[in-house]
Amino acid sequence: MTANAQQGSSAADTTFSLTDNATSETIELPVISGSLGPDVVDIRKFYGGTGKFTYDPGFTSTGSCESKITYIDGDQGVLLHRGYAIDELAENSDFLEVSYLLLYGELPSAGQKKEFDATITEHTMVHEQINYLFRGFRRDAHPMAVLIGVVGALAAFYHDTTDIQDSRQRMIASHRLIAKMPTIAAMAHKYAIGQPFVYPRNDLSYSENFLHMLFAVPCEDYEINPVQSEAMDRILILHADHEQNASTSTVRLAGSSGANPYACIAAGIATLWGPAHGGANEAVVHMLDEIGSVDRIPECLAKAKDKDDPFRLMGFGHRVYKNYDPRAKVLHKTCHEVLNDLGLDNEMLDIARELERIALEDDYFVERKLYPNVDFYSGIILQALGIPTHLFTVIFALARTVGWIAQWNEMIEDPHQKIGRPRQLYTGERQRSYVALDRR
Ligand code: SDX
Repeated sequence: MTANAQQGSSAADTTFSLTDNATSETIELPVISGSLGPDVVDIRKFYGGTGKFTYDPGFTSTGSCESKITYIDGDQGVLLHRGYAIDELAENSDFLEVSYLLLYGELPSAGQKKEFDATITEHTMVHEQINYLFRGFRRDAHPMAVLIGVVGALAAFYHDTTDIQDSRQRMIASHRLIAKMPTIAAMAHKYAIGQPFVYPRNDLSYSENFLHMLFAVPCEDYEINPVQSEAMDRILILHADHEQNASTSTVRLAGSSGANPYACIAAGIATLWGPAHGGANEAVVHMLDEIGSVDRIPECLAKAKDKDDPFRLMGFGHRVYKNYDPRAKVLHKTCHEVLNDLGLDNEMLDIARELERIALEDDYFVERKLYPNVDFYSGIILQALGIPTHLFTVIFALARTVGWIAQWNEMIEDPHQKIGRPRQLYTGERQRSYVALDRR
């Protein structure tokens, strides 16, 4: 394999040779370099040239697309959104500015930011009929189940944005989803606790509005706490996008068939719900609760290391990060700030920090490069903000909506985009004849 491949285009000027030792046949596969990260071996002609499939369940070594949105270096613990480091964005930006960056590729000017914030603000209300959708759910339904249902139902409300080849219609759908997710998330919470829905307010920022819709009641004024709204905004920034994770890949696959954008996002929410993915933040808090005290940490770690025990240390490990998740670093720092500012001590944080300290010294975790991920500290902050545990993954989905929709737009605009249709290694029965019932 020779050097100097071209950057990030479908054309390549180097090749990767593969030889089938059974037949001595060799296939030359183009190698393509991106602007950062590993080169890729273009295997689009592999089946045509060899009659064989490649095999990669879980896609541990497979690049599914070309993208310019987010770059992750798992070994260095680096996360860039359109080239900007996540810790710089968390420190200096706000969620709508990061949303603009993910959607359009550049940080907005002051005028562009003002216009974008106004556009999102004017889309925050939902169609009044949506209110009646909630009545079909039990009050004790998990808010993620409600979110999947209501976001999917948006596909039945906006017939003016169904031509996904029209960039103007795609952008309206994108703005609507970013704007309406906090409203729908807050409605799911209000429905669960039997309180009336609270309408969005145009005089509040995105995160202030979300907290207001979550916690305000008609009987008294709700006072925005800037510590809470700033912490919420930072949490949303840290969860906005993350390359081709499971839920983003779901949105891309659903979108590749030309499906309605609201339906594609509902599919992403469904995938994120799993405890191996976005559901981990809720699972971390349940785990820390179950541990209960620092002296029970060794017992928990023993379970996590026991191959016969399905228990895993929630909030630890990552498919890509084999170093500290940069988002976890920011969240750890934010945890301290929020608890100090709110004058809260938090035994759960003490347990989390001791659990992290012991795990990071334990050979099992060190050998497997298992570090805290984004979910390890986020739940503790959300709990300190008064967010009920069942909303933790809802908030992850609210934030990730902009990442999903940015990736969905990029996929639609990709001239090489085709419907996603993986193949398989078939190990089932060979063809056999039908046996009549009276002969079985
Ligand atoms: C998110 O992809 C993304 O970018 C996701 C995300 C995003 O922003 O979209 O970052 C958000 O989903 C973060 C991850 C949240 N999930 C959790 O915290 C759940 C706990 N973590 C694990 O389930 C696991 O680490 C995964 C699912 C996150 C990653 O699993 P992989 O990449 O498939 O790794 P693996 O299962 O092959 O594990 C490798 C080894 C195994 O041991 P061996 O078979 O080699 O002996 O590490 C072990 C695993 O048993 N292992 C763990 C562990 N995670 C991996 N052992 C104990 N506790 C854990 N948490």
